[in-house]
Amino acid sequence: MESLRQYVRDIPDFPKPGILFRDITPMLANPEALTAAVDAMAAPFIDAGVEVIAAAEARGFIFAAPLAMKLNAGFVPIRKPGKLPFDMHSFAYELEYGTDELQVHVDGVKKGQRVLLVDDLLATGGTMEACCRLLEKCDAEIVGCSFLIHLEVLGGAARLSPYQVQSVLTYG
Ligand code: PRP
Ligand code: ADE
Repeated sequence: MESLRQYVRDIPDFPKPGILFRDITPMLANPEALTAAVDAMAAPFIDAGVEVIAAAEARGFIFAAPLAMKLNAGFVPIRKPGKLPFDMHSFAYELEYGTDELQVHVDGVKKGQRVLLVDDLLATGGTMEACCRLLEKCDAEIVGCSFLIHLEVLGGAARLSPYQVQSVLTYG
C-alpha cells in the first residue's frame, strides 16, 4: 500500500498559510490507485458485519459509495447545513483550518445498525468526532472509522476513542 503514497501531492500553505495540504486528486485520477485505495480501506472491515457506511461531504463521499458496494452496505450521507431536506441531528465542530457543522437525517441509521464511518483524511479529528456524535444520536453501533490518510501529529485518533481507527497511509 505504500506505493499509493506517490499519488498524494503535498501543497504547502493551502488553504491557509502553515497548512500542508495532502492532495489526493492524483490518486483519484488513477484507476488502479483508486481501486487499491478503496480495497485497502475496506480490508480491515470485510468480516465486521457492516450494514451502513456513513460519511461527511465532500471528500468522504468519494470513498463511501464504493466502500458501501464492496461491503454490501447502504450509504448514509452526513452533510453540511442547508442540504438535508428531512428532520436531522446536528453537531458543530472545529477543523484544522476553520469551524463547521454537520447534520444527518434522524432516520438515516436505525437504532443498533452497524455503521462504518469513512473519510479521506484524519487531521484534528473534529470532522470524524462530529460524525461519531451524530451516529451516537441515532443510537447506531459504530464499528469503526476508516481513513485513507492519517496525519498522526495532529492527534485526531485520540478524539475517536474508543472506536477502532484504521488508515492506509500515515504521515508523522
Ligand atoms: C477535510 C477532510 C476531512 C477533514 C479532516 O474536509 O476531507 O473531512 O477535513 O480534518 P479534521 O480531522 O481536522 O476534521 P473539509 O472540511 O476540508 O471539507 P471537504 O471534504 O468538503 O473538502
Ligand atoms: N483536511 C484537513 N487537513 C488537511 C490537510 N492537511 N490536507 C488535506 N486535507 C485536509
